[in-house]
Amino acid sequence: MQLFVFLSLLAAAGAVVVPFVDSSGHFHPPTDIAPRGKNTTINGILTYVSLPKEKFDPTTAVLMLTDVFGLPSPDNLADQWAAAGFATYAPDYLNGDALPPDGNVTAWAVNHTEAVSTPPILAVIRALKSHGIRKIAATGYCFGGLFTTRLIQNNTITVGTMAHPSLLNVPTDFELMKAQSHVPVEINNAELDTGFTPALAVETDAVMDDGQYPPGYFRRQFDDVAHGFAVLSETP
Ligand SMILES: *[C@@H]1O[C@H](CO)[C@@H](O)[C@H](O)[C@H]1NC(C)=O
Ligand SMILES: *[C@@H]1O[C@H](CO)[C@@H](O)[C@H](O)[C@H]1NC(C)=O
Ligand SMILES: *[C@@H]1O[C@H](CO)[C@@H](O)[C@H](O)[C@H]1NC(C)=O
Ligand SMILES: *[C@@H]1O[C@H](CO)[C@@H](O)[C@H](O)[C@H]1NC(C)=O
Repeated sequence: MQLFVFLSLLAAAGAVVVPFVDSSGHFHPPTDIAPRGKNTTINGILTYVSLPKEKFDPTTAVLMLTDVFGLPSPDNLADQWAAAGFATYAPDYLNGDALPPDGNVTAWAVNHTEAVSTPPILAVIRALKSHGIRKIAATGYCFGGLFTTRLIQNNTITVGTMAHPSLLNVPTDFELMKAQSHVPVEINNAELDTGFTPALAVETDAVMDDGQYPPGYFRRQFDDVAHGFAVLSETP
């Protein structure tokens, strides 16, 4: 680790790990929405794939990192990315163990460390790159925000966006991003989020905003909505 990164980690000893918001604090889509994509296996990893109906750029893809409710969630978010024109891949990085809607996220988290959640993501990214996909946009929701952050820090992707991220360390993770990444980042946060609160968002801005992060930083707060708002989707 570079010395200045190490020093900033020490300086951030009072840093906050964004907590998980428990199941009852999440929105859940009210009804099942018929999926337009399908499950496939990519490099050994179950992956939901949704392709645009129209012609699309085969060198570009969206890597969608779901929240803790994973691929069984009845929302159609990956399909919405596909409808916007992007081939969209959502790997099952929860290893077949998505949290049930009424599950206990604290107990669940024990089996979903970064050590076990990262390899499936990287396996799918490797496969996409070996199939000629040169630009990957990662989009992460809640738990997926943590991994989007890691992919940005590690310069594994082209651009990253996250909504209501969990488990990040603020400000340490953004200091690390600033120290080693050239990947632009977007954050969509919720006014009523009890995890990544508006106060933590402001702390993040203090590290990233006003041109401090040359690759590009954009944060937008959505008012009157809580954690999970970006996953809730309308029937198309
Ligand atoms: C994909 O797999 C997940 C996990 O097994 C399942 O819950 C989901 O319904 C499947 N989706 C489709 C479109 O088959
Ligand atoms: C959730 O699990 C944690 C850890 O196992 C436990 O301490 C906590 O009491 C559980 N919460 C509920 C509401 O069951
Ligand atoms: C964690 O995984 C182990 C091994 O598969 C399993 O026995 C245990 O029930 C899991 N814990 C939770 C909380 O799901
Ligand atoms: C990012 O890099 C760190 C340090 O090498 C590694 O521990 C982590 O698994 C990587 N994460 C991802 C998502 O690539």
